[in-house]
Amino acid sequence: MNIFVTGGAGYIGSICVEELLNAGHQVTVFDNLTEGHRAAIDPRAAFVQGDLALPESVKAALAASKADAVMHFAANALVGESMTDPSKYFRNNVNGGINLLQAMVECSVRKIVFSSTCATFGTPDRVPIDETLPQKPINPYGESKLMFEQMLRWYDEIHGIRHVALRYFNAAGASERFGEDHRIETHLIPNILKVALGQKSGVSIFGTDYPTPDGTCIRDYIHILDLAQAHMLALTRNESAKYNLGTGGGTSVREVIAACKKVTGRDIHVVEEPRRPGDPARLIASSEKIHTELGWTPRFQAIESIIESAWKWHLAHPKGYETGS
Ligand code: UFG
Repeated sequence: MNIFVTGGAGYIGSICVEELLNAGHQVTVFDNLTEGHRAAIDPRAAFVQGDLALPESVKAALAASKADAVMHFAANALVGESMTDPSKYFRNNVNGGINLLQAMVECSVRKIVFSSTCATFGTPDRVPIDETLPQKPINPYGESKLMFEQMLRWYDEIHGIRHVALRYFNAAGASERFGEDHRIETHLIPNILKVALGQKSGVSIFGTDYPTPDGTCIRDYIHILDLAQAHMLALTRNESAKYNLGTGGGTSVREVIAACKKVTGRDIHVVEEPRRPGDPARLIASSEKIHTELGWTPRFQAIESIIESAWKWHLAHPKGYETGS
């Protein structure tokens, strides 16, 4: 298939692009490079530097790509930032999304795979989180993603655009070539690996008084290659659907740090700090639905195997994409 990928220069987008190309699809990456990196775009893909904020820009690129389907990764995705600058999240994630959907209508592209998030669920009443739980975001980031999910329903009903929304839990790990390099790094695993690389003096644990066995937050870390596989399967679906995407396993912050110590063989200095606003204690996915309907099964279950791939990439790219590698 011919796939138009927004945000294909970002962490998740770049690796999905690589996997799409490996599977024989043709890809056009559409990215404004504010968060993404030019060096993260697989050279086999066509690249258009453009902005979803500009309706004509996205429409022209989509028309030229002759796409059969869209994968929509482009978004702002920092929970904390969304709490201080909600306009940025609604403008880029919602308004930009409307421009993309309108371009799809005008170019008669009838399939979209959307990067959604477990942040649309807010603080869940129970875990694992399946698709029947109510979505009650607790920050503008989660709200902006939920708003786009809700819009998708109407573009299906009115324009026949079929969607698959994938609610990622905590994406982690790397492929052989592409990895995680955010200009402002807030995520746990890359921050720990920066300590292992000697680039940071220590890693903070945000909150040690959560109602969890070791007092730190529990997350469901999913390998980026398993996530990419789910996108590929989503392309085969002809009806709209929404799926939660995680391994079903939970790992605490302390357990992630211990696993990083083991994988890297290096000491990790830890600083215990107060809770970070907006962090739910425990987020674990139920991915039964996508397993049953699309046959998706994660290959990487152990946190160590996920960290190993990230560590390998960080060792090879200690300055991320800055080196142009
Ligand atoms: N944490 C630390 N120290 C750090 C960084 C994080 O203790 O230096 C903790 C956080 O408090 C949290 C856990 O580690 O408890 C994971 O934090 P991340 O920032 O790595 O990931 P989040 O769970 O906060 O967020 C991620 C994505 C969001 C997405 C969310 C749910 O970054 O975009 O998962 O899908 F919304």
